[in-house]
Amino acid sequence: MPNDPKGRTQPGYRKHLFVCGHERPEGAARPSCGKRGSLALMQSIKRAAKEAGLTDVRVQKSGCLDFCEFGTTAVIYPEGVWYTLEGEDAVAAMVHHLQHGTGAEAHEMSMD
Ligand code: FES
Repeated sequence: MPNDPKGRTQPGYRKHLFVCGHERPEGAARPSCGKRGSLALMQSIKRAAKEAGLTDVRVQKSGCLDFCEFGTTAVIYPEGVWYTLEGEDAVAAMVHHLQHGTGAEAHEMSMD
């Protein structure tokens, strides 16, 4: 069995944030998160999580999460809370959820 370079003894993360990084070409029938700057936002969240000392979470890009029309889409597991990342406090809100498991309700995806 290989040794884990980070010293982990079991697979997985306490929290796992996926940010959609999908980008469609100009003229596509549906919008895409990559065109909204989602990858730069993801990098900011990664940096902020690291600065906050969160070593047991993972922030990474995903392919299309299929809620393209609702804005820059993200989801945090294991809660399965879906977010639309907009506004200056979106980064801080995601880090807060990664730390505490809640507290980012203002960014939860709304389908109303
Ligand atoms: S392109 Fe981001 S959810 Fe579809």
